[in-house]
Formats: sequence, C-alpha cells, structure tokens
Amino acid sequence: MKLTPFSCERLFARHEFSARYLLCSSDCEGLGQSEALAMADAETARLWSGLRLGYTESQGLPLLREEIARLNPGCGPDDILVLAPEEGIFLAMNCLLSAGDRVVCTWPGYQSLYQIAESLGCAVDRWEPEPERWSFDLGRLEKALRPNTKLIVVNFPHNPTGALPAAAVFRRLIEIARRRGIALFSDEMYRFLELDAADRLPSAAECYEKAISLSGMSKAFGMAGVRIGWLATRDKELMQGLREFKDYTTICNSAPSEVLALIGLRGRERILENHLTRIRRNLALLDSFFSRRADQFRWTRPRAGTVAFPELLREDPDRLCEEAVTRAGVMLLPSSVYGYPRPHLRFGFGRENMPQALERFEAFLESQGRAARP
Ligand SMILES: Cc1ncc(COP(=O)(O)O)c(C=O)c1O
Repeated sequence: MKLTPFSCERLFARHEFSARYLLCSSDCEGLGQSEALAMADAETARLWSGLRLGYTESQGLPLLREEIARLNPGCGPDDILVLAPEEGIFLAMNCLLSAGDRVVCTWPGYQSLYQIAESLGCAVDRWEPEPERWSFDLGRLEKALRPNTKLIVVNFPHNPTGALPAAAVFRRLIEIARRRGIALFSDEMYRFLELDAADRLPSAAECYEKAISLSGMSKAFGMAGVRIGWLATRDKELMQGLREFKDYTTICNSAPSEVLALIGLRGRERILENHLTRIRRNLALLDSFFSRRADQFRWTRPRAGTVAFPELLREDPDRLCEEAVTRAGVMLLPSSVYGYPRPHLRFGFGRENMPQALERFEAFLESQGRAARP
C-alpha cells in the first residue's frame, strides 16, 4: 500500500518544535506528569508504583477499557480496543474496506480519514459543509451515497472548522446509514470539548451496531504524549478483525501510558473543566481579534473543539503562514494542507500561551503594514 504524505503532519514536523509560538495546535495544554500523578486514586497509585515494564494485554489494560466503556454506554470492556489514535484509523480502514468500495467522508478534514481509504483503492466522495456557517447538510450526504458505498466517515466536533451538528441531525445521519446497512466510522477525538455541554453528541458506537467510534487522550484530555486512544464498536466480528490486525502494528500498548491514561480518565472532570475554561478565555480573545480585523478575516465561531477555520480575505494563506513562521516565529496552518482550495487558516485555541501567540501574530500583521482598519 502506497500512502501520500500527510500534509498537515509534514508541516508540523518542520515547525512544531522550532517555532516559538504555535497558533494552530489542535490539542489542549499538555498535562504535566506530576500533575497527572497527583490525581491518582489509591488503586491507580498502586498500579503506578508497582508497574512492570513488560508486554501488556493486547486489547488494552482491562481497568482502562472499563473506564472507556463508561464513555460509550451500551459498550462493555470487550467492545473497546486500546491503541494509538492514528493507529485506530489505520486499523479500522484496513478492516472495513477493500479496493473498489466507495466511502463518503466529511471534508475538508484530517487527512488519514480519507487518505487511507484512497490508498486501499477505494473511491472517496466528499461530504462538504457550506462555508458560511460550516453546517453539514444531510441532503448533501444522501446525494453523495452510491449503491456500493460501504462506509460513512464523520468527524464531529470537526477538525478544522469546529462544526458540530445538533443531536437530532446526528441521529438522522445514523438512521440514513442504518437504512442502507452502511457502516459508520465516527472520529470523536474532540468530544467533551463542547462549549455548551448540552450540545454533546452520544458516541456513535452507543447508537448504532455498525458504528465504530474513535477517541483518545490527545485532545480533550491534554495527554497527547501518552499516545493512547481507542476504538469502540459493538460489532463483534469487526472487533475480532481489529484485534488480529493490531498484531501487525503495535501488538500492545505502552505500560506506563496505559496507567497514566487511566488516571487521566478517572480525573476527567477536573481536566475538562480546566481545558474548557482556557478555551473560553482564548475564544473571547479570538472574537475581539477578528472583530478588529473584519476586513482581513471572516470569522465563523466554532461550537466545539480546539480549532477554527476562518477565511483569509484578499491574501494567500500559504504566503502568510510562511512569512508568519519565518519572520515572527508564529505557526499557523494554511488551508492547502487540507487540500481545500478556498483561502482559510486553521487557528488553535487549546494552549495556555495562545494569548501571547495571538499578540505576536497581530504585531507581525501590523509590522507588515497589514494594519487593522480603524
Ligand atoms: C480528527 C482527528 N482524528 C485523529 C487524530 C489523531 O490523533 P493522534 O495525533 O493523537 O494520533 C487527530 C489529530 O490531530 C485528529 O485531529
């Protein structure tokens, strides 16, 4: 299987650890190890201090799977497979798809959600939101479906737009898939980061027996470095195939990471509250930045997650991003890394130093004569 380079990851590989300011990160502020360990309860503290660094259970630490199952009501620990989030996409696509199948995928989006399917020889039809409000219309989805559509791939809350459909729309989407017997891959990496908790969608694995949900520690829980995520599905045959495929990727997970993930999940309320407080603060700053600069950007406020995708007016996003990173040390993502032809930039607002990054970016715009209109 030949894979096309992952544009967004390649750009991060160039700048993530050299640029002074990241204004496009999709994760929340990373938790410190001591902060995480201080949240351990008696059981997880015992697990941590008695940890042996041998191989681990291939499907994932049973206590961790129990905790994850609570996030997916109707799923038990056996319906969960713990792995690295990106690995989960790779495994699921390989198990669900064969050359010649058709797939419908939310687009623009995280590249592996459609790229792996294409590399397997599938045709991918795009489900695009209308760009004024970033709303995904079910009529458009139905039009994209073909008799041989095997899989619908969605990502809500959505990277890069921050779109989140109403729960009723999500349920209708599942009905559309169910009526046609189409499997649903639901990337829920940004779930739990809804600005209004009432907007939270159920996990797809909870609602539909042919759904597979992906989530993990990287975004909402601020623990991207543990590289722990999971797939949840009630489809037993698919779960068996996923387990067998994982023997050819990582076999099992890192022992310390599993315990840290368990500690993080058990302490999730406090972690999420901190992250949402920071996200609200950062979004308020973005609101005023974009209202000062309405002649340069068109701002569509996200409903959830850590990223937004405003339109850049009258400028080339690639040029602006290159200049911002080389001259001011501020990294942003241009829409071209999504293969999206309209001029947009991805902003991220989950990090603690976002106010300084934004200030620096604004100073750069001023210094370039790209001043805001009074
Ligand atoms: C929508 C989406 N899915 C999956 C992933 C993969 O997560 P990870 O990088 O932790 O493997 C990302 C990461 O940015 C993402 O944005």
